[in-house]
Amino acid sequence: MTRQTNNNGNYVRLPALRCLMYEVALNGWRVLRETVNDFSLWRLIEYPWATRVLALHRGDLVLDIGSGTSSYPHMLAKEGVDVIIAELDADRVRWQLAKRQETARPGDGVFLPLVADATKLPIRSDSVQRIAAISSLEHIPDDAAAGREIGRVLAPQGLAALTIPFTSTERESFFKGIRNFKKVDRNAFVQEGKAGSFFRFYTRDDIEQVYVQPARATLANWGGFGRRLLNWSYHETKLTRYWRRYVIKDWLLATVVHPLEERFDQSDPLYVMFTLEKRSS
Ligand SMILES: C[S@@+](CC[C@H](N)C(=O)[O-])C[C@H]1O[C@@H](n2cnc3c(N)ncnc32)[C@H](O)[C@@H]1O
Repeated sequence: MTRQTNNNGNYVRLPALRCLMYEVALNGWRVLRETVNDFSLWRLIEYPWATRVLALHRGDLVLDIGSGTSSYPHMLAKEGVDVIIAELDADRVRWQLAKRQETARPGDGVFLPLVADATKLPIRSDSVQRIAAISSLEHIPDDAAAGREIGRVLAPQGLAALTIPFTSTERESFFKGIRNFKKVDRNAFVQEGKAGSFFRFYTRDDIEQVYVQPARATLANWGGFGRRLLNWSYHETKLTRYWRRYVIKDWLLATVVHPLEERFDQSDPLYVMFTLEKRSS
């Protein structure tokens, strides 16, 4: 899985509009009205960011952890990148396989969906140059084990692009008055009546302990999204019922409002995005 490429330029890029077009090509026009997977505003921020910071070329290989029914691995494959999916839910892996069979074209990268637990990856140590985990690690109760596994399988000088929920203080609630999330641990919540709906926020110290140190990594490319405007005036409010609808609006929010919010708003972001680069020894 350690593949060297000789491409110096020609990085794979997935700007928000290209992601939107892929999403329509993969899942049909109806996704502009109501998404069929987790595609939404946040993904239009995360996918372009992850693709850029991973500095990918055609022929590179990405391990995508907790893919769910996301189109991101398909977008990468369409750009000629090889992808391994490690997803716990067998139904979602079947969905990914069926989607791949429907949409594969000559010239695409290799696409290998695996039913696999991020806390016990069936992958050799030090073997993966590029890892993506997009809004998935916060759903894993034993995140320390997932952090160790990312550190174990990442090759020396390899890069992992992670996006996870953030808080600088202790969170007492999530989606208060909108959905019933019960606090189960420090900064951790479970949605009542919904099995497997674990959700955790991370402080900067948590990130250091759970992800940076076990990988013996350098943290870089730090960014955030979902501050006062996009989170507290929109996502964590009753307006969230429009969250998964009319995805077309999200293109403007992601490309115009999000950069302005990042430039001028110092409040906590809902999510942070960062890379781990594993040190050589
Ligand atoms: C919010 S969803 C996926 C988001 C997706 N990455 C995207 O880009 O839209 C989180 C996924 O993580 C998966 N997951 C939860 N625990 C896991 C584990 N231990 N190992 C692998 N996947 C896991 C869930 O089954 C779910 O499909």
